[in-house]
Amino acid sequence: MRLLITAGPTREPLDPVRFLSNRSSGKMGYALAAAAAARGHEVTLVSGPVALPSLEDAASGRISEKRPEVASTKNVQIVRVVTAADMLAAVKQHLATCDALIMAAAVADWRPVRVARRKMKKGEAQTMTLELKRTPDILKTIAPLKGQKLFIGFAAETHNVRAEAKRKLREKNLDLIVANDVTAPGAGFEVETNRVTIFDAHSEEQLPLLSKRDVAERILDRLEAKRKSGR
Ligand code: C5P
Repeated sequence: MRLLITAGPTREPLDPVRFLSNRSSGKMGYALAAAAAARGHEVTLVSGPVALPSLEDAASGRISEKRPEVASTKNVQIVRVVTAADMLAAVKQHLATCDALIMAAAVADWRPVRVARRKMKKGEAQTMTLELKRTPDILKTIAPLKGQKLFIGFAAETHNVRAEAKRKLREKNLDLIVANDVTAPGAGFEVETNRVTIFDAHSEEQLPLLSKRDVAERILDRLEAKRKSGR
C-alpha cells in the first residue's frame, strides 16, 4: 500500500521566537512509518517538528538541496512541516497518490490571530491576553476527497475516552480510530509505550500496554485486514 502518515505536533507561531504547541513527541507516527516501511509499504511521512533520530538520521544523507524539507530513506519519504496550515497543504498534496491516511499527528487546535514580525516585548505588564483562532481540521477538510481510501485517526483524551473516540470516528468519517487515555500510566505523550483501544464502526479492541512499535504493528494488521476485506 501507499500510506500517508502524519506525526508529531504542529507549532503555531506568535512571533519569531515563540509558538503554541503540545507535548507530542512524534514517536507513535514514526513507529508507524518504520513498521509500515519494514512491511514493504511505501510511506510518505508528514512530520511536524520533532527531536527523533532514527528515520531522520537514516534519511539525512539524501536531503534534496532544492527542497530541504523533503528527505527519503528506504520506502519512506519525509516531508517536514511546521504549522497546521502547512500540514494540511502537505496532506492535500500527497493524498491523491495514497491508499490510506493515518493521522497520528497532534495538530494544534488554535493559532494566534496575530503573528508579530518582531519579538514581542514584555514591557512592564503583568498580564497579557492572546487572541486565538481555530486551525483547520485536516481530517474534516479532506473528508470529501476520501473516495475508497482508508482513513485512520487518533484520539488522545483525558476523560470520556470511549464516547469521544466514537464521536470522532463518526464526525471525521474514519474507518478506524486509535484512542488512548493520556493520563494512564505508560500511555500517551513522550513515553515509549502506549495503551490503546482501536474502534471501528462495529467493534472495539482493547490492547494491553505495548511498545509504540508493537502498537504500530497492531494498527497495521487492522489496516491491512480492512483493505483485504474491502472494509
Ligand atoms: O479532535 P481531535 O483533535 O481530538 O481529533 C483527533 C484526530 O483528528 C487525530 O487523528 C488528529 O490527527 C486529527 N486532527 C486533524 N486536524 C486538526 C486536529 C486534529 O486532522 N486540526
